[in-house]
Amino acid sequence: MSTTTAPLRSTDGLWFGKDLSQSEPIPETAIAQAVALMRTGRLHRYGEQGSGTPEPSLLEQEYAAYVGAKYCVAVSSCGAAMFLALKALGVQPGDKVLTSSFTLAPVPGAIAHAAASAVLVETLEDYTTDLADLERKAASSGARVFLLSHMRGHFTDLRAVRAICDRHGIALVEDCAHTMGARWDGQHTGTFGHVGCFSTQTYKHINAGEGGLLVTNDEDVAAQVILMSGCYMMYDQHLLRPSAEVFERWRYVMPNFSMRMSNLAAALLRPQIALLPERSVRWRKIYSDLAQAFANTPHLTLPVRDAREDFVPSSIQFSLDLSPAQIEHFLAECALRGLYIKWFGLRIPTAFTSHFGHWHYLPEQAPMPKSQSVLRQLLDLRTPLSLTADDCRLIGQIVHVAASAAAAHSVGT
Ligand SMILES: Cc1ncc(COP(=O)(O)O)c(C=O)c1O
Repeated sequence: MSTTTAPLRSTDGLWFGKDLSQSEPIPETAIAQAVALMRTGRLHRYGEQGSGTPEPSLLEQEYAAYVGAKYCVAVSSCGAAMFLALKALGVQPGDKVLTSSFTLAPVPGAIAHAAASAVLVETLEDYTTDLADLERKAASSGARVFLLSHMRGHFTDLRAVRAICDRHGIALVEDCAHTMGARWDGQHTGTFGHVGCFSTQTYKHINAGEGGLLVTNDEDVAAQVILMSGCYMMYDQHLLRPSAEVFERWRYVMPNFSMRMSNLAAALLRPQIALLPERSVRWRKIYSDLAQAFANTPHLTLPVRDAREDFVPSSIQFSLDLSPAQIEHFLAECALRGLYIKWFGLRIPTAFTSHFGHWHYLPEQAPMPKSQSVLRQLLDLRTPLSLTADDCRLIGQIVHVAASAAAAHSVGT
């Protein structure tokens, strides 16, 4: 006799039950390209002789053209891209690096990897960067780099950020893990600063399981990253590469960190770039269906999106003006209806949801009252492309019922 018990269910008949972490299948063209590559056995990132142009090099050319950047380097993850960007910009052990307080662990992780010290910048109620805090810390911290995370696809005014950075001689690195295909004021994210870093991990906009893309217009950054990512001096296999003189400046001094993207990952990604515009339209439709379904939910607010944001939302965030105990109740009420929502206010780090208070390896930070209060009420939901309009309506109903129940539950702290 089976001993497994069915999950507890609400008796009101509302049940969602879909797996929100389910990705789109890999397109058949990409599968065919990957299989053809496997038949050749040439899976290493560079071929010594007669192997033609490696897939990552072709991907780099295609992605750089897509975003409008001069150089692109394909690497093993977005975390690797951010680490390599910091190294190429000359960040030394002990240096301060400004970064967003609302982000995911790989971002402070990249700074720690470079043995630098993260200085967090406050986050506002619409989940964007507090420009006044950025200006203050740009002036006082001594940091030479700002690693800005467009976390969950929320943009800070990028021209204003760039102006602050320029005023203080700070290089801007954009973490675009959540903004592939997205534009600010008509221009692709990742091209406003010195370096843009993208992720091609499964939950992102194109999927190779793992992978990262670094874009830049700076020839010295590009050459250093090619060398550091592990080209074994075969940089002439990069279609997009700076001149031999630029490599001559760096080839004896840059270590090899072996962080290059594999041939197989690049083969899977190349056919997916063309799908980005169509995916963007579908994600925006899901976002607007959910936003409509959340309207009139008690205590719930969605951030007001700036008209200059052309965002590609693979998730949706909202704030619940409730106490932590009530939010726990809200999450439990959703779970009773087969809907699993994430909360950035969790005390214990869980799954992909992280809070800067969880990163005990960070140096001591100035008090972060705004970020604390934003994250304490911030909820997060992945929005796979398989969500239908009916799914969105049902999610809205469940969220409404759960928020009402949570509000009535208690007035705990
Ligand atoms: C905001 C953010 N930045 C960076 C990354 C790092 O991406 P990767 O997993 O490719 O290292 C992630 C990963 O999910 C992320 O969510």
